Amino acid sequence: MNKKNDLPTSSSTPANGSLWGGRFQEPTDAFVERFNASVSFDQRLYAQDINGSIAHAEMLAATHVLTDEEALQITTGLLAIKSDIEAGDFIWLQAREDVHMNIEAALTEKIGDVGKKLHTGRSRNDQVATDIRLYMRDAIDAINVKLHRLQAGIIELAKNEAATIMPGFTHLQIAQPVTFGHHLLAWNEMLERDYTRLCDCRARLNVCPLGAAALAGTTFPIDRELTAKKLGFDRPSNNSLDSVSDRDFAIEFSACASITMMHLSRFAEEMILWTSSQFDFIELPDRFCTGSSIMPQKKNPDVPELVRGKTGRVYGHLMGLLTLMKSQPLAYNKDNQEDKEPLFDSVDTLLDCLHAYADMVPAIVAKRDNMRAAAAKGFATATDLADYLVRKGIAFRDSHAVVGQAVAQCVARDIDLPELSLHELQALCPSIEDDVFGVLTLDGSVAARDHLGGTAPRRVLEAANKAGQNLSTR
Ligand code: ARG
Repeated sequence: MNKKNDLPTSSSTPANGSLWGGRFQEPTDAFVERFNASVSFDQRLYAQDINGSIAHAEMLAATHVLTDEEALQITTGLLAIKSDIEAGDFIWLQAREDVHMNIEAALTEKIGDVGKKLHTGRSRNDQVATDIRLYMRDAIDAINVKLHRLQAGIIELAKNEAATIMPGFTHLQIAQPVTFGHHLLAWNEMLERDYTRLCDCRARLNVCPLGAAALAGTTFPIDRELTAKKLGFDRPSNNSLDSVSDRDFAIEFSACASITMMHLSRFAEEMILWTSSQFDFIELPDRFCTGSSIMPQKKNPDVPELVRGKTGRVYGHLMGLLTLMKSQPLAYNKDNQEDKEPLFDSVDTLLDCLHAYADMVPAIVAKRDNMRAAAAKGFATATDLADYLVRKGIAFRDSHAVVGQAVAQCVARDIDLPELSLHELQALCPSIEDDVFGVLTLDGSVAARDHLGGTAPRRVLEAANKAGQNLSTR
């Protein structure tokens, strides 16, 4: 990613040529040129930078700061540069420091002196603040497309597994039977919150800083509403100092990305556990796993493991950005150039992880017999027995104690609850009748949790359909 050293340098030219070198008596130190430059990574913002410049030039023409002819020459030149970049025909120069000055200098080379008028009434400070917001908007949209695909896959799988019984866990100990479909829909709820969080973040960042110029605004008669509208922003930002210095949105996005990665990491952990021979609940297709170079029997869940591992770097970027901002006085400081690499890496990482899951999760094969057998082993219906006793008029605390004794007997004899005879159960509590065996079955247990948000198969199917409909509206 870091291509700093690959870029052509120009230690013999005066400090940044015509762009800001006017007052300088000696060229920039060769090390400082590299240290200061961001073009190796911010060239990624070229499309946003060019779109922002076109909107700015058109606004300058609309307000008669530029003539229509000048604006047309500028926009035509910028579009040609965009094509050059996309065709791989653009030479990025480290000496031109960043994406903004590379494009501006190339524009003047292409169209002549009129190119020098583009920067009227703006600064790189409001320019870069605009570029990153435009980038973040696109990034969030791309993330939401992947989230959508993953959620659709989870919901479909949940429909197929709505009646598949598995143990539900607390403390990673078998707790109560649930359905696999219900478990999958819990994942979907997390991702749905992630989606709405990203939408909130997008709405808050969608304001246009252009016009703030370096920090105080500009003396030209600009139309900020027009620029904002041309770029699809909801409105211009309110305060010029805040506009050029605010990176809250980068932090907020990183927090959203971190929470999503935390969720993906939790799924990863479950998939890793479930594919182990100790659980053996699911099969991941071979194409998402790898083998061992020494142990021929191994099939390792590398994709979920990598997702779990990559979560750390996204958290790290969140902390990095918070720290980047924590002591900065108003307004713009060069520190802010350090916002891009963590942001880009968080976006790339999240997109990759979502992509991997969107492909992999629908291909999960549930080992239904193993799931059911595990649920049958762990006294998962003990709470059902306690609830049954409550329905027979026993207070819950007392029924809890009775069932505790029943479980202790089973543990001692290495049997499960339904294997106790009616006689043995009645010895523990005389109110027990032979209808008790209905509540001790796994199917009876899940079917009884028949309310909104419960694990009864018909509720799971209902919830999956509702989730699918909700997804199709966005
Ligand atoms: N490359 C810079 C950044 O990413 C652009 C803004 C530079 N502004 C300045 N006053 N030096 O922040």
